[in-house]
Amino acid sequence: MSETVQVIIDKKTYELPVVEGSENEKAIDISKLRAQTGYITLDTGYKNTGATTSGITFLDGEKGILRYRGYPIEQLAEKADFLEVAYLLIYGELPSKNEYSDFKNNITNHTLIHEDMRVFLEAYPTKAHPMGILAASLSTISTFYPEAQNPNRPKEAIDLTIHRLLAKVPTLAAWAYKNAVGQPVVYPKNKYDYCENFVNMMFSLPAYEYSPDPVVVNALNKLLILHADHEQNCSASTVRIVGSSQANLYASVSSGVSALWGPLHGGANQAVIEMLEKIMNDGGGLMKWINKAKDKQDPFRLMGFGHRVYKNFDPRAKIIKKAADDVLNKMGIVDPVLEIAKELEEVALNDDYFKSRGLYPNVDFYSGIIYRALDIPTEMFTVMFALGRLPGWIAQWKEMSEENQPIGRPRQVYTGAKERDYLDINKR
Ligand code: SDX
Repeated sequence: MSETVQVIIDKKTYELPVVEGSENEKAIDISKLRAQTGYITLDTGYKNTGATTSGITFLDGEKGILRYRGYPIEQLAEKADFLEVAYLLIYGELPSKNEYSDFKNNITNHTLIHEDMRVFLEAYPTKAHPMGILAASLSTISTFYPEAQNPNRPKEAIDLTIHRLLAKVPTLAAWAYKNAVGQPVVYPKNKYDYCENFVNMMFSLPAYEYSPDPVVVNALNKLLILHADHEQNCSASTVRIVGSSQANLYASVSSGVSALWGPLHGGANQAVIEMLEKIMNDGGGLMKWINKAKDKQDPFRLMGFGHRVYKNFDPRAKIIKKAADDVLNKMGIVDPVLEIAKELEEVALNDDYFKSRGLYPNVDFYSGIIYRALDIPTEMFTVMFALGRLPGWIAQWKEMSEENQPIGRPRQVYTGAKERDYLDINKR
């Protein structure tokens, strides 16, 4: 007999089944609650509500654990290649040599973008934020592939779309950057690996010979792996709910890009650097800003601090903090912003306001410092997050689709005006 819990409403007892996951997480299944009791639950922001079961990513916020398909993030970040991790998240297992080779070749051969897309890119103002370009371009690019609209989602069509998305998003991202800096776009080169190709499209210029720096390429590979998935976060939940209406994968990923853009989510990596630069230029010392962050009357928050799930350390932040030191040392860069970040972390973690609320550096706190060292401009930081999160969004959408989950449609508790009659405008 599986475990149940009891709910007593108007002196009547209802039994609700308990769902237990492979890591012993427990949930009360309320899928029949309204039919049985007429009641729904209310949980604004879904802080206590599970939207689905999932076999993709496991994280334990108290213990600072993060695993993709059971593999610890620390091992994947240290030893794996980003496309290997993408395959793992999407198809559930690490690829064999042949599977990896086929996957990589399929992606390499789809990196070009239809030339008609250039018309859209050139129409954007020079200072257009690249996240706006990326979100719009993903929806636009779906119109070049009508077969991707098939709501029955045949496996071959989905695999082709997966290859096209993984292949074209780096090209779109690099072209959005080139558009922002007024430089000519650089076409993908099949001789390069995934991260090498992106670095080349970002930084090479027709005027001179350029070859991607292995330190930059390796740091990018690690950062993309660390951002690849994070279970039911805001943007992944957006991708799932958009896909649940049978919208195509391009449009669903485009909605994920838009959700990620917000400064409370992926946009935080850009906001962290802007905050650290403001603190550095202000010269007013750290305590002024720590106190502002604690002041409920002040809208200022320590960007890159806090997390909905991690109430201890974010394992990704620990890895990225070390990688920041490594990359800057290897590149011979001394960045005062990194020193300020470390001091800020030190002061905050000794302050009861942050400790009592479980506010620690999250994935966004140090990542921007590495992007700066790689010469990636601040406005591209969240695009880098999207580049990493792409396989996670695809994996979440594919799992939702393969399980034929119903269209997402939450309920509400109405608190507005009760019934009233229309009044002619002359009588209002
Ligand atoms: C990402 O969900 C994911 O997995 C996301 C992500 C992923 O990989 O997909 O990990 C990526 O989005 C990381 C988070 C990036 N965002 C930021 O760094 C923005 C700054 N952080 C906060 O805005 C906040 O911590 C959130 C949005 C991340 C989490 O917000 P919650 O869970 O809704 O927590 P809360 O706002 O209810 O805060 C609880 C308390 C409040 O104080 P009290 O009401 O208890 O007095 O902590 C305070 C908040 O005011 N607080 C902060 C703070 N974050 C929370 N106070 C100062 N500075 C902060 N950064």
